[in-house]
Amino acid sequence: MKILVTGGAGYIGSHTCVKLLNEGYDIVVIDNLVNSNEKAIDRIKELSGKDFPFYAFDVCDGDRLEEVFKEHSIDCVIHFAGLKAVGESVSKPLEYYSNNLISTITLCRVMARNQVKRFIFSSSATVYKPGSPMPVNETADLGCTNPYGWTKYMCEQILRDVVHANPDWSAVLLRYFNPIGAHESGMIGEDPAGIPNNLVPYITQTALGRLEKLHVYGDDYDTHDGTGVRDYIHVQDLAKGHVDAVNYSLKHTGCEEINLGTGIGYSVLDIVKAFERVNQVPVPYVIDPRRPGDVATVYADAGKAKNLLGWQAEKNLDDMCRDSWRWQKQNPNGYHS
Ligand code: NAD
Ligand code: WQD
Repeated sequence: MKILVTGGAGYIGSHTCVKLLNEGYDIVVIDNLVNSNEKAIDRIKELSGKDFPFYAFDVCDGDRLEEVFKEHSIDCVIHFAGLKAVGESVSKPLEYYSNNLISTITLCRVMARNQVKRFIFSSSATVYKPGSPMPVNETADLGCTNPYGWTKYMCEQILRDVVHANPDWSAVLLRYFNPIGAHESGMIGEDPAGIPNNLVPYITQTALGRLEKLHVYGDDYDTHDGTGVRDYIHVQDLAKGHVDAVNYSLKHTGCEEINLGTGIGYSVLDIVKAFERVNQVPVPYVIDPRRPGDVATVYADAGKAKNLLGWQAEKNLDDMCRDSWRWQKQNPNGYHS
């Protein structure tokens, strides 16, 4: 069984590659390294003890994609490749729409020409309309507040339409909540460029002393301590969810949207306190105003993943905090360390 992984050098992709290899799948990876480092590919090989073909090019390049499909007999595609920074998408909407939509459309075209009919897509909880009742399930109304979110919304619709027109296709649209943590070895993890936008990389870099203090965006939300509540999920649990989605797509046709979350909401201060307790390291912080676009609470109804995929998150918040910190400590400058 050979899986094409686009964006396999990235944060979630690299963990999924290791899991796929450990489970006995063959993989082929394409990543143009626009937000990652080739060292991640070396580490995937080291961790798994297995070799695989890696191609450094843009998935929007249909001709090169066609060559890869001709060279390898691909059974299923996992499409992680995409730009993902919410704020940047507001200032560079065309880059986001071009990259995220054209990569998805190009992949579908090349798959169709090569009789490959299984597609696992990296979607996001960000497709849910703000204000949806929590826990949010897959039937909730959709609607986004930024171009990044709309690219996920549109790619989902494209895939639903492709599957509708080709009933022998299988597409699994995985809506991730807030991925954090790292591989237990500390060899692969999240390596954001510049100052992190997301909470946990900001915390780990603050604990390390690279950043002075965490800015907590608002303590006046209607939550148990006033700070924003999210459904944080260990990246290793997410990786396992992809293996389960591949197995599901081998046995089913049709298109399914599936939440990958724990179903548990933690506040910003819950995360800070757990991180300090588990790792015995201080995280200085200040309370700042709310970040525009943020909502009080988001967490998943993870029931569909359990029913359809037999998947549920196994790691807890302490695991997430410990593993995020191990990765950061061992790699103070990420893959540039
Ligand atoms: P990441 O940036 O670490 O990984 C994405 C990878 O895709 C990078 O290695 C990048 O170099 C590559 N890439 C981007 N555009 C490409 C292109 N056109 N051709 C080839 N390679 C390209 O991000 P991640 O956190 O691992 O996220 C993976 C996917 O999951 C993304 O699609 C993201 O939108 C989605 N997602 C992420 C989160 C999150 O919080 N991390 C949450 C929900 C959904
Ligand atoms: C989490 C909480 C912040 C940083 C984003 C995307 C979403 C998805 C996951 C891709 C919030 C607070 C954060 C900081 C803080 N990505 N915070 N100080 O916003 O839930 O989701 O990543 O699909 O689309 O929007 O994640 O990690 O940025 O924030 O107080 O320096 O931490 O206000 O309550 P978010 P996040």
